[in-house]
Amino acid sequence: MKILIKRDVLFQHLSEPVLKTGLLEQLKEFKQHGKCTCYDHSVAVAKTALLWSMVLPFRFKQKQLVRGALLHDYFLYDWHHVKLEKLHGIAHPHTAAENARRDFDITPLEENIIRRHMFPLTPIPPKYRESVLVTLSDKYCATKEVFTALAHRIRTGRPVAHLANMLAFIIALFPWT
Ligand SMILES: [Fe+2]
Ligand SMILES: [Fe+2]
Repeated sequence: MKILIKRDVLFQHLSEPVLKTGLLEQLKEFKQHGKCTCYDHSVAVAKTALLWSMVLPFRFKQKQLVRGALLHDYFLYDWHHVKLEKLHGIAHPHTAAENARRDFDITPLEENIIRRHMFPLTPIPPKYRESVLVTLSDKYCATKEVFTALAHRIRTGRPVAHLANMLAFIIALFPWT
């Protein structure tokens, strides 16, 4: 428990310059998985990656790790309304990187985190260990969010129909989300 408190203090310190610009607030407009917004998802990915960086026996550039993770899905549209959802999976890291370059002064490492977070759906692998960590954290958090949404839907409505829908969704996107 102590490490979670330590992580939250560090996260607040490292994320403040990005969060206080207010630009990330735009992510609250868009749903990511289930009821989870892009903002919630991005914060969860950044916090999870930061926690892993604190316990793994490697050195990580934690400031850039958090900034890159916060901006990894900074694509600024509702992907549920995109005609070809699969193309969103491939294209959105580049859209997010271009938006981040426009709105923030990002480093090459932060840009690599954003551009490569969909590996292996996008074939070029992450270049830095921070990028690898965010790629893994993203898949972990996305899976958790999808299963949370599934559990909620089963509790609140037609369980078989929702189960079938969610399984189709998971099969189509897992582990690429
Ligand atoms: Fe993404
Ligand atoms: Fe993501």
